[in-house]
Amino acid sequence: MTAAMPAACSLLLLLLLVAPVAAGDGGECVIDGVRWAAWANSKQLTEGLGIPEHTFSAFIFDLSVGRQALSAVMDISSELVWLQCWPGLRPTPTFLPDHSGSFAPIAPCPSSVRNNSGSFGQIHYADRTCQPGDHGCEARCRYMEHIYGAGNTSGYLATDRFGLGNRVVSGMVFGCSDNVTMRDDLNGASGFVGFSRGPLSLVSQLRLSRFSYFMELPDDPDNGNAFVCWSWGDYADAKGSHTPLLAARPNQNPYLYYVNLTGLQVDGQLLTGIPAGTFDVRANGSGGVFVSTTLPFTYLEEAAYKVLRRELMSRVQSQGLAPVNASAGHSLCFLTQHFSKLKVPKLALVFDGADATMELKAQNYFWNVSGGQTCLTILPSTTGGSVLGSLLQTGRTMTYDIHGDGGGQLTFSGAPAPAQVSLATLLLVWALLF
Ligand SMILES: *[C@@H]1O[C@H](CO)[C@@H](O)[C@H](O)[C@H]1NC(C)=O
Ligand SMILES: *[C@@H]1O[C@H](CO)[C@@H](O)[C@H](O)[C@H]1NC(C)=O
Ligand SMILES: *[C@@H]1O[C@H](CO)[C@@H](O)[C@H](O)[C@H]1NC(C)=O
Ligand SMILES: *[C@@H]1O[C@H](CO)[C@@H](O)[C@H](O)[C@H]1NC(C)=O
Ligand SMILES: *[C@@H]1O[C@H](CO)[C@@H](O)[C@H](O)[C@H]1NC(C)=O
Ligand SMILES: *[C@@H]1O[C@H](CO)[C@@H](O)[C@H](O)[C@H]1NC(C)=O
Ligand SMILES: *[C@@H]1O[C@H](CO)[C@@H](O)[C@H](O)[C@H]1NC(C)=O
Repeated sequence: MTAAMPAACSLLLLLLLVAPVAAGDGGECVIDGVRWAAWANSKQLTEGLGIPEHTFSAFIFDLSVGRQALSAVMDISSELVWLQCWPGLRPTPTFLPDHSGSFAPIAPCPSSVRNNSGSFGQIHYADRTCQPGDHGCEARCRYMEHIYGAGNTSGYLATDRFGLGNRVVSGMVFGCSDNVTMRDDLNGASGFVGFSRGPLSLVSQLRLSRFSYFMELPDDPDNGNAFVCWSWGDYADAKGSHTPLLAARPNQNPYLYYVNLTGLQVDGQLLTGIPAGTFDVRANGSGGVFVSTTLPFTYLEEAAYKVLRRELMSRVQSQGLAPVNASAGHSLCFLTQHFSKLKVPKLALVFDGADATMELKAQNYFWNVSGGQTCLTILPSTTGGSVLGSLLQTGRTMTYDIHGDGGGQLTFSGAPAPAQVSLATLLLVWALLF
């Protein structure tokens, strides 16, 4: 591995030096190596299974740590910034602490860390202390993180110098992972950058007031515009439609970005069959709607899903096309050869706020799976609560304004990336396995 690494590193470093890295809104933008990939079992769509492990999408960008150029998955629903630190764990590039020159483990755990357990992901921190005479023992702040859909990772906290966009951040707290139980190939990513509201996320450590991103499908005409940006300070509203980000209620996961979805429209008509309060948070903290960048599909409360499925099915059937397997109550698939000639019913999500309707393109909610079928990528939630997945967000700039009180504002717009990031070098992969 050491033979191949220097060449790969210098190539990446060169790209970092020559690629245009633009600052937007007084902050930073990363456009280097920004790419989106997804892995899913197509059975999940044809049979409508719940969210299994290994149904995952990775929105990846380049960064540097110590002296190494690496790339990592941007994840708005997990906390930790972490890198694979143990050679030979997986075939992806490994961060080598000994080569860094600025790497330092932290012990004991910082007082800010909190254990967090929820139905979508978990993180635990615990001090490892050493007894006198316990030779070779080093005190560490150990963590174990479960990333929903992706898998688990564990290791110890450390600090190092991070290069993010054109800014160098020294003393960034991150996880040096010596155990990663995830798929081998995350499209070259060596770890994750958590953008959740957790105390060690990038958002919390850098005290960001805003971040935004633009993901796109491989066949999108805007291809080449993907970016991740973040910034500090007070700003005017971003351009687009605005809806509040809701502070977590008791028993909800306080790290997630919740939105107030109020309804669904098909061909401009509100689906009145969805019972009032379907998307509301229940007293025990279940329910609610949050946004994810690492789950490719969207999961809706069953009461809403059923109404949506029935409406889409009847509108397609009225054009003379029947679903492949109408008896499969948890999915909606059609033969691609017929479906591609159809007028696809237009779906829109309605959020709280003036003019906060998100009109979707067919590729945001239908996908061609192997076997000649085109399936709805919206599925019923099995965990209580709805998740807006990454496929739904492709082709749209998503901007999160973060307020200290746990709330904030989400702005979405159909407009592609800001002009200054249009020169991005870009790689995109969509792999539908099994
Ligand atoms: C987290 O939970 C573990 C037990 O799973 C406990 O040992 C540890 O002290 C807790 N850490 C914090 C920071 O509360
Ligand atoms: C990952 O962690 C979760 C939560 O702690 C646990 O339920 C699951 O079994 C773990 N998975 C693996 C593969 O270790
Ligand atoms: C890695 O973590 C998994 C749980 O996610 C555990 O089952 C396994 O034993 C760990 N491996 C090592 C070498 O610690
Ligand atoms: C929470 O309450 C809802 C009804 O309000 C119930 O359907 C659900 O099973 C409860 N969840 C848990 C985890 O207790
Ligand atoms: C139809 O769906 C059911 C239930 O998910 C499944 O068991 C069956 O294999 C499917 N049939 C076909 C022809 O795909
Ligand atoms: C969600 O939006 C509806 C409609 O605008 C509003 O009545 C409700 O109070 C909002 N819920 C929360 C928790 O803000
Ligand atoms: C699916 O494939 C058909 C036929 O090749 C194509 O016309 C259509 O655009 C594809 N749909 C999506 C959502 O990719």
